[in-house]
Amino acid sequence: MLYAQITGWGRFLPPAVLTNEEIATVVDTSSEWISSRTGINARRISHVMNVDLAHVAAERALACAGISALDVDVIAYATTTPDEIIPNTASLLQGKLGAANAACFDLNAACTAFLYSFNMVSDMIRAGSIKTALVIGSERLSSLMDWANKRDSAVLFGDGAGAVVLQASEQKSGFFQGKLGCVQDTRGLLAMPDFGMHAVAQHRPLEVSLDFSGREIFRNAVNGMAAACTDVLQNSGTSLDDIDLVIPHQANTRIIEALAKRLEIPMEKVVVTLGNYANTSTASIPIALCEALEEGRVKPGMTILIVAFGAGLTWGASLFTWADRVTPLGESDVALPTTDKTGLELILEAIEVRAEAAKRNSSV
Ligand code: ACO
Repeated sequence: MLYAQITGWGRFLPPAVLTNEEIATVVDTSSEWISSRTGINARRISHVMNVDLAHVAAERALACAGISALDVDVIAYATTTPDEIIPNTASLLQGKLGAANAACFDLNAACTAFLYSFNMVSDMIRAGSIKTALVIGSERLSSLMDWANKRDSAVLFGDGAGAVVLQASEQKSGFFQGKLGCVQDTRGLLAMPDFGMHAVAQHRPLEVSLDFSGREIFRNAVNGMAAACTDVLQNSGTSLDDIDLVIPHQANTRIIEALAKRLEIPMEKVVVTLGNYANTSTASIPIALCEALEEGRVKPGMTILIVAFGAGLTWGASLFTWADRVTPLGESDVALPTTDKTGLELILEAIEVRAEAAKRNSSV
């Protein structure tokens, strides 16, 4: 019998910090509004491409597992913000890592994409079709934000990447139950309708503008995640008392608290990191997992529940047990070019670029 174990983990948060107070100097909002409604105090803004964030996280995960990039059979790159559509971002990362033996795919299930990838690749390992996989959640969401006009969404997101190495093992631990789904007819709740091939086919300028209905997402998120958790618990015969740690998608503290209340899981067992990083979409779970490991919250043999929801509205949960090792075997010295720019300077630049593009489009 084969099991899929996490043997490596790594995360990378770009250095430029953008606090709520700084946002409030350029956007009609207040730090208090943001933190009281979401639990978010700050986020990171990337000065590099999505793949560069993923690269550092992936190198750290490989070093942590003590393996070479040549050992990787599959790179599953979960993202909603790929640097390019064709070819996929996983193949770009493959080149940076030198992972010549890896199959490469991107997976878009919005904030649930890391969890989708994790479950699918774990099942491939358990079926014996691959031995080693690198699963990455990486997002550069700041480039999608309309800071000047869409304050409701702009304040919620941040950039970052997290990665795990999954390896086949005969030791009984690792992924053992998963459930994935998508709520029909909720596509409009979180959408960028004018950014894709439909707009291209009509020769319209691509509109980077997020439509979103916060309250409806909130309601669906709690219901969808609670149902996914109940499903994996029931189908695996796991009781709530057996769960040692819950790592939910980090969209809003109030959503996480409502989920914990619904499941009757004490908040002490729940990992919450969004105060410092905001919602990093599909990167949020691997980033939170790494933080929990760094803080010593993950112990050998623990049963861990991860759960997410995202645009679609997609949702999912997985259950796994941690094996023995909770410390990295090695460290990577791969680093990004540094930046002197602050988070505020980076978004001021983005506001200017967007205004110029809008002017160009209106004069065509
Ligand atoms: N600053 C100040 N005021 C704002 C802001 C802002 N950034 N954004 C909206 N407002 C105003 C609104 O205009 C509204 O004003 P009005 O009452 O005069 O019309 C008022 O604040 C209340 O807005 P609501 O939308 O009712 O605020 P709510 O309490 O629902 O909180 C929030 C909004 C935080 C987005 C909440 O709905 C939420 O957490 N939703 C789910 C999380 C979410 O959608 N995350 C996005 C990604 S989803 C994912 O990760 C898959």
